[in-house]
Amino acid sequence: MKSVKIIGTGSYAPERILTNREIEERGLSNDAWIVKNVGIRERHIAAKDQATSDLAVAAGIRAIKDAGLSNKDIDLIIVATGTPDRPCPSTACIVQKKLGAFQAAAFDISAVCAGFIYGFSVAASLIISGNYEKILVIGADTFSRITDWESRDCVYFGDGAGAVVLSSCEVGKGLLGCFLAADGRGYDDFTVKAGGSEEPASIETIKNHKHYFSMNGKAVFNSATKVIPMGIRKVLADTGLEVRDIDWLIPHQPNINILKFCAQELGIPFEKVMVNLDRYGNTVGGTIPLLLDETVKSGKIKPGDIVVLAGVGAGWTWGAAIIKWV
Ligand SMILES: CC(C)(COP(=O)(O)OP(=O)(O)OC[C@H]1O[C@@H](n2cnc3c(N)ncnc32)[C@H](O)[C@@H]1OP(=O)(O)O)[C@@H](O)C(=O)NCCC(=O)NCCS
Repeated sequence: MKSVKIIGTGSYAPERILTNREIEERGLSNDAWIVKNVGIRERHIAAKDQATSDLAVAAGIRAIKDAGLSNKDIDLIIVATGTPDRPCPSTACIVQKKLGAFQAAAFDISAVCAGFIYGFSVAASLIISGNYEKILVIGADTFSRITDWESRDCVYFGDGAGAVVLSSCEVGKGLLGCFLAADGRGYDDFTVKAGGSEEPASIETIKNHKHYFSMNGKAVFNSATKVIPMGIRKVLADTGLEVRDIDWLIPHQPNINILKFCAQELGIPFEKVMVNLDRYGNTVGGTIPLLLDETVKSGKIKPGDIVVLAGVGAGWTWGAAIIKWV
């Protein structure tokens, strides 16, 4: 038997920064409300000629370099995204082409804000099973492209990407356990209504703003504050660890109040909860690997530390993973 470790991390956010003040100037919301209720001060926005795959490639290149590998060493690319370049083919295939990593298999994962945890878990299983050796898992999104910039809900998201390279290691180190779950009963609470097979694009769907995300804010809050602690407790129980054993929690970044509520619910000191949504907003699939990359590069995480990744996304989808850092 073998386990799985992270051997490289990387991230990328587009150059253009959109501040709360600029949103306030457009008369949609205001800085004080956004900071108090969401915790975001600014977010990055992709340039016109940047698609999700471009953000993914930039983060992927950095993670591969960090791992001391070349693009030719990667045998599988998984991209977690809710904003693919095109409905088909997968963004992972476009990333493979841009990386010139033609030896690698490639596919996308669709679990929105929990997509990275889903992709990470699938990749880990494929390494443990012996099918693949070096997997690039990328979380990348450009929600600015499905944001209704005439709605007050434009405050929540930013564009960004993060990536990790996974490889095998001895059991007892690296990934100690992970857990995935879903509840499709909430599928309509956060959604993009048109553009799929249910309601293809038409003049009507465009007129009715149905290609932008729509959100039931209360349902998001209630779901996230329930399932994030639930997912973390489940992996802790599976691995025989306690909340006090956690050195660093790298959670999805939906909203500062959701994160504070979850920390209180779990009884974990907030200093152990990593946060960067003030500078990036919610980058959806990108949040966890982007935050992990920042935390690793800051030197906070030491070998032997217990690191927990946890996310919740539309669907609902959620999951958590516990890593003993190598
Ligand atoms: C969005 C959220 C703050 C709204 O709070 P709520 O009490 O559930 O919802 P309401 O619609 O009743 O709004 C409460 C007040 O905030 C105001 N408000 C809501 N969104 C606003 C915005 N973007 N800008 C300014 N004011 C806003 C409303 O006008 C209302 O004001 P009022 O009390 O003066 O009428 C809360 O539901 C939440 O935090 N949800 C999680 C959303 C999230 O994290 N999404 C990102 C991940 S998917």
